[in-house]
Amino acid sequence: MSPRPKALVLGGRSGLLGQALVRVLRESGWDALPTGRDDVNVLDSGSLASFIERAEPAVIFNTVAWTQVDLAEEREEDATRLNRQLPTCLARMVRGTSMHLVHFSTDFVFSGRKGTPYTPDDTPDPASVYGATKLAGEQAVLQQCPDNACVVRTSWLFGPGRRNFVKVILDICHDKGEARVVHDQIGSPTYTLDLAAGSVKLAELRATGIFHVANAGQASWCELASEAVNLAGLPCKVHAIPSRDYPQKAQRPPFSVLDTARFTQMTGITPRPWPQALRDYIYKECLPAMHDA
Ligand SMILES: NC(=O)c1ccc[n+]([C@@H]2O[C@H](COP(=O)([O-])OP(=O)(O)OC[C@H]3O[C@@H](n4cnc5c(N)ncnc54)[C@H](OP(=O)(O)O)[C@@H]3O)[C@@H](O)[C@H]2O)c1
Repeated sequence: MSPRPKALVLGGRSGLLGQALVRVLRESGWDALPTGRDDVNVLDSGSLASFIERAEPAVIFNTVAWTQVDLAEEREEDATRLNRQLPTCLARMVRGTSMHLVHFSTDFVFSGRKGTPYTPDDTPDPASVYGATKLAGEQAVLQQCPDNACVVRTSWLFGPGRRNFVKVILDICHDKGEARVVHDQIGSPTYTLDLAAGSVKLAELRATGIFHVANAGQASWCELASEAVNLAGLPCKVHAIPSRDYPQKAQRPPFSVLDTARFTQMTGITPRPWPQALRDYIYKECLPAMHDA
């Protein structure tokens, strides 16, 4: 019997996507090794290299990132260390070996002024420090290691295991009975478990290049919140507000819907519509947890 393929999931102990990847990998018969801050210092390249050498993974999924979008505006160096230097280092370690690297990036590499779904070939033009550091990371990965790495861009994640927009809205609605949510930013809401399954497929195919992976359809934050509240059956008023009434430090793309055609072409997977995925998240993950609490 051949041994189970081994995957290292950087950020797999606590990250929103990392935890989903670990779950999906194990369900798919992989030996998944998650890491957190106590396992290895990912910013120390020597320690990281020996950790990877000892682990001997077939695939490394890198979900570690500086994800605090607004704080990145004032902590550019810290964001750069995680979003550019770490993937650069990983790509150098993977280059010329039998390992494959799956690195995650974001719709924030686009300014959001295009108005139709972004394809992987569209020219990125980030409008925030977070977006710019993530773009630098994905460029480094593809430049250092074009033959055994891929970049998976995704957006608007919700899923079990960590605070996320949908959970925050449900908590606010539960506590206050109303929420004010931005209606003039449009994106592709994405379930971490669906994204994880798609990413594992890309790893199995040893895909290279850039892929957009997101659930199908589009929504504003307000539409996503309203659908979540309806599914959860909460008596909550969701008020639509313009972005100018909810000022944030970092500029967000007004329209960052991702075109997933290349992903479908590569894997044969057509992502399901986001409301279906949201239903699964709320019925299978959120409501049982709310009833237990
Ligand atoms: N969330 C979204 O809506 C979204 C949208 C588009 C793209 N993405 C991309 O998807 C990927 C995963 O995002 P996510 O939402 O899963 O992020 P997340 O929940 O914030 O997880 C990030 C992970 O990085 C770890 N980390 C942060 N700083 C670290 C450090 N100095 N040393 C070691 N570990 C550190 C965190 O550990 P701790 O828990 O210990 O801090 C956590 O495990 C990222 O590349 C992100 O850019 C996310």
